[in-house]
Amino acid sequence: MKDLAPGKEDLDPIEMASRDEIQALQLDRLKWSLAHAYENVPHYRKSFDAAGVHPDDLKLLSDLSKFPFTVKSDLRDNYPFGMFAVPREQVVRLHASSGTTGKPTVVGYTARDIETWAECVARSMRASGTRPGDIVHIAYGYGLFTGGLGAHYGAERLGCTVVPVSGGMTARQVTLIEDFCPTTIMVTPSYMLSILDEYRAQGRDPRESPLQVGIFGAEPWTNAMRQEIENAFDMHAVDIYGLSEVIGPGVANECVETKDGLHVWEDHFYPEIIDPQTGEVLPDGEKGELVFTSLTKEAFPIIRYRTRDLTRLLPGTARSMRRMEKVTGRSDDMMILRGVNVFPTQIEEQILATSGLAPHFQIELVRRDRLDCMIVHVEMQDASASQTQHAHCRHELCERIKQNIGVSVEVETLSPGSVARSQGKAVRITDNRDRS
Ligand code: DLL
Repeated sequence: MKDLAPGKEDLDPIEMASRDEIQALQLDRLKWSLAHAYENVPHYRKSFDAAGVHPDDLKLLSDLSKFPFTVKSDLRDNYPFGMFAVPREQVVRLHASSGTTGKPTVVGYTARDIETWAECVARSMRASGTRPGDIVHIAYGYGLFTGGLGAHYGAERLGCTVVPVSGGMTARQVTLIEDFCPTTIMVTPSYMLSILDEYRAQGRDPRESPLQVGIFGAEPWTNAMRQEIENAFDMHAVDIYGLSEVIGPGVANECVETKDGLHVWEDHFYPEIIDPQTGEVLPDGEKGELVFTSLTKEAFPIIRYRTRDLTRLLPGTARSMRRMEKVTGRSDDMMILRGVNVFPTQIEEQILATSGLAPHFQIELVRRDRLDCMIVHVEMQDASASQTQHAHCRHELCERIKQNIGVSVEVETLSPGSVARSQGKAVRITDNRDRS
């Protein structure tokens, strides 16, 4: 793999600024953002008043902990445009996240917000090793999902040639990669695995593909998956994080030279980690729920938004801004088996460590004799694997999960192609407990 680290001279000065400078900027911007939300969004005025706090009470960054959280239902209750802080005519773009139940949550952007977002994504891409002039293949979905258009504007901002493919039609994805020779691909890691399958199905060697960098996000994925994709394609696999409520992709990104967690673009998004049970702010280094406050957003300021993503904050390395560790999962995806918390990413790690298994899997929860049980459905790598090999893989995975995670699960091994493929975010868990 090529050394693709950007030169220091190519970075935004704030990326290498001192912590003091970053915090001074954050404090100024935080004061503005709280006042902007309070003055222009009835929900924030009400919730700040109810908590007995006023934007003027923020003297230090740590005073933010006095302000109330915002949760997904606050956005739903104000559907569709109730959380906007500018007249609707100034909103140039809407996005929405579908959500599995009820109404979607709608977010809006002013022209300046779109610029800010493009800058954050361009910065993320540069950190990933993409350079001006590169060809970028975007296979995140275009539409109300922020992935496609968010990546698109960022790539244009960086000065790249953009191929706006969107998700789906996997055979065509491979053809376009081979014909247009992009060096960067932006896609969910699970869909990248489908593209990998397609390379093999077409009898092409993925290591000969023109791709040098993959910027993967929108769902949790592990360092083991990074290894798998990097080896398969002989390319760098870098993590990008974001969520619609905060802006979209480009809230945080790994640096290609370190790949040691995602630098949060703290000049625009202020991160906190809280104890999900008590709401108490935890010190850096401790694991908990990630909470974000926007510092510069105009149309849709967001104050102390509870993401439900679990991670911890770490000091900066390749950049001065703090890092967030790769997300373990969402609190909603946490399964509890006999008192042990289990995340799909932990299962992914063990699958990837078991030779003979492919990285395509799904977790089914069932109830037997009033006890919750987990069945891991996972594909074999080799279509011609014998029954003995199947049995061997099942046994090995069960043992690994027991030893490393501490739970007993059932494993079902399947032939290649049996697990439903994602074209965007993978759905890892099927809950059949009510049916069993
Ligand atoms: O998924 C934005 C995005 C698009 C990020 C493309 C990266 C690349 P939402 O649809 O609102 O937005 O979903 C946000 O997805 O709260 C996390 O649970 C999860 N997520 C996003 N990026 C990562 C990541 C987009 N790198 C939700 N690692 C978030 C783990 C991620 N989870």
